Amino acid sequence: MPDITTSLEEVARKHGVRLPAVVPLSKQERLRQLRWILDRKDVPHPIGSETARVYYERAASGVPFGIGSLSGQTVELGEYRNEQVYESLRLEDHLSWACLVADQQATKHAYACREYLLGEEMFEIGGATIPDYYLLNARIFQQTGWQLATVNMIIPAEVFFHCHSRKFFPVTTFMRPLETDYLPEPDVGHDVAGHVATFTIPQVAQVMNNHGLANDLIHREKELKLQTARSDHDIRRIHDEACELLLYAGRLYWFTVEFGLVMQNGTLKVFGAGILSSPGETRYSVTSPDSNRVLIDPRNDRDLLRLATTDYLISEYQKTYFVMKEFDALTTLTPQRILHIVHTAQRLPHHTWTELVPGDHVLNVGRAAMSANEKYYRYLAGQPLDECMQRTVERNLKMWSRSLEFADDELARAFMTALPPPPRGLFTDRISPIPCG
Ligand SMILES: [Fe+2]
Repeated sequence: MPDITTSLEEVARKHGVRLPAVVPLSKQERLRQLRWILDRKDVPHPIGSETARVYYERAASGVPFGIGSLSGQTVELGEYRNEQVYESLRLEDHLSWACLVADQQATKHAYACREYLLGEEMFEIGGATIPDYYLLNARIFQQTGWQLATVNMIIPAEVFFHCHSRKFFPVTTFMRPLETDYLPEPDVGHDVAGHVATFTIPQVAQVMNNHGLANDLIHREKELKLQTARSDHDIRRIHDEACELLLYAGRLYWFTVEFGLVMQNGTLKVFGAGILSSPGETRYSVTSPDSNRVLIDPRNDRDLLRLATTDYLISEYQKTYFVMKEFDALTTLTPQRILHIVHTAQRLPHHTWTELVPGDHVLNVGRAAMSANEKYYRYLAGQPLDECMQRTVERNLKMWSRSLEFADDELARAFMTALPPPPRGLFTDRISPIPCG
């Protein structure tokens, strides 16, 4: 049987980590630091003395961290609620974190936006061990007003965005296995090493909160419609439509907060947490000739529709990255505007993750780039389609089978008329393209 310590030492060496340095702080030291943090008054959101006392006592008495309790808000996580039991984290977990952080050093200094690097310093998340959530939660709250809520798995979009509307960020407690660069599901590496530092970008924090508030608006709309539902069919349709809207709002989030790039001083930089939590994708997203890169301006409705109508897969590096002209434009993505865009997206044909669309400001044409109609030609020729193409073709065919009108919606009409007409062979007698006028 191989010696576990020897193999851990080998892994550590490979990533330039000293295994003896991977030692979590003692409880006494963590409490000493917590006391110091809670007493700080030189911060944007100082913590009141009574709140600080209760918070400290919970940590000192060994209650595991669950949901931050430094603001008047809380969230109900139900079956998804989880806790961080700091002492139960294993050496392998801490080493996996240390290796990820060490690997990130090489890429993030070259490719991450400058605000991310500042955030990492401010929240002290660049160390050799997994952060204690009591300490991390207090630091985040003091600087941004956001807090952590621990969850046990990928949670439904509705719960995820509900947390955002109350300025809680859901974090897992599971750390990826050693030697894993990219993980399709969130872990501590993604949630903390990826997301947390980006809270210092006020425009990103604001747009995250706005997504939460847009989720509330979609939910409220659904509740109102349900009051007038006359049949089970109506109820099902109303639920399905709300799910669809949430899905499209999720795409706006995905292509910005999770996988966004930004132009800074004429250079491409990464701010998306999904990218930053993978050292491999951090470099790939900026330099690889394989993926499309498209410049967008979130002030422009057409560009937002482009995001909301673009499907993607989570199992590999992205095939199209969207580059924000600047962070400031993200603040125009208000909850009402998100709602308007996703309602419009519901009525339009959608795109696959490899597609370039007329009107795109293309910075790089990836090797796998497709034109807007290629998915249909492949479908008609009976050629294999990836899951994203298959889903998009089926969804568009279903949409075209409804008789929709665009005369009342200038934005939808403009978006639609910019697309090339789909091949005629795609339609049977019962399915005809949506009229554009
Ligand atoms: Fe994420």
